Amino acid sequence: MASKNHGMKALVLSGGKGSRLRPITHTSAKQLIPIVNKPILFYGLEAIAKAGIKEVGIVVGETQAEIRAAVGDGSAFGFKAVYIPQEAPLGLAHAVKISRKFMGDSPFLMFLGDNLLKSGLGPLVDEFFAQKPNAQILVTPVPNPSAFGVVELEGGKVARLVEKPRQPKSDLALVGVYLFDRTIFKAIDHIRPSARGELEITDAIQWLVDNDFTVVSRRTDGWWKDTGKLEDLLEANRLIHETIKHSIHKDARVDALSRLEGRVVLEAGAQVVESVIRGPAVIGANTRIIRSYVGPYSSIYFDALVENSEIEHSIVLEHARIRDIRRIQDSLIGQRVELVRSGAKPEAFRIMAGDSSRFEIP
Ligand code: DAU
Repeated sequence: MASKNHGMKALVLSGGKGSRLRPITHTSAKQLIPIVNKPILFYGLEAIAKAGIKEVGIVVGETQAEIRAAVGDGSAFGFKAVYIPQEAPLGLAHAVKISRKFMGDSPFLMFLGDNLLKSGLGPLVDEFFAQKPNAQILVTPVPNPSAFGVVELEGGKVARLVEKPRQPKSDLALVGVYLFDRTIFKAIDHIRPSARGELEITDAIQWLVDNDFTVVSRRTDGWWKDTGKLEDLLEANRLIHETIKHSIHKDARVDALSRLEGRVVLEAGAQVVESVIRGPAVIGANTRIIRSYVGPYSSIYFDALVENSEIEHSIVLEHARIRDIRRIQDSLIGQRVELVRSGAKPEAFRIMAGDSSRFEIP
């Protein structure tokens, strides 16, 4: 059931650089990388809509054309989307600062567009209105806290927030979901850019703590993933695959020589010819799998081709072509990438790869 919306707005951060996912993010937005054939960002937007939020500001940077094309006016999600261009990725608090006009006096939920959460946002919104703090943060214990904003609690209260500390004093990471009232704008007016040159939201929240405003924290229930790196994307892909149901679109084709095992999703126009698909796996619209094996935790996006190859535990983007490759695992293959065996002599790898590409060759 949708939660009451109380006039709350949302701010979704979809700018930034995605430097750890190059070369994929040289040309496209990291928030649009599909997880189980749906852009990461859409999971967050759907959760926002489900929480009853009707007005969503989307902070966009260099990749704004792509984000706008994917999200449109928000009506497909059930809210109104307004785009807030950010001149450069100057920090999460900078993104909040430039959204001041859009927010007016409304409380808002800030969502980092590359985060994925299992649990819904409705209970967080309800709790915010029940407690009426100035800020509500979400935390979860992690094995590698120095990769995140870290929260130190004292007697259950938020005492300190440190952005990516070298020596973390707690294992509680800040999850990319925050609820604020308008005092956050005042806090941001008082902070300066950090050593990495960004206006940090952690510093703004620390300012609230130091000036006796109310900052409450809550633990996530269920998993959470910041999809900034390849291994996180693959893990998120695994986690979402655990939730999919077997479904074969009426316009998908599977020939008599093929076998589908376990939970498999075939989207419209997908074709499986003389192949084995072992789920959980999803084959996108108009993608062809020919004389191949597609193993568990694979997500092949639309208009792709896998022929005479084996692939498992991987994400393949649209229009990619994989032909005569014995086995691919743990990989992210970008849009329009071609991986083919040529048979030409002399036998050699012949490669045209984008900047920052990475190959692991047996
Ligand atoms: O994922 C949770 C972590 O997110 C928190 O634990 C950290 O405290 C917080 O600073 C943030 O850390 P990251 O370094 O992972 O943030 P990242 O640069 O990846 O940005 C998060 C999202 O916000 C991403 O979708 C890009 C977008 N963004 C980022 C910046 C810096 C913007 O739209 N504008 C920006 O200026």
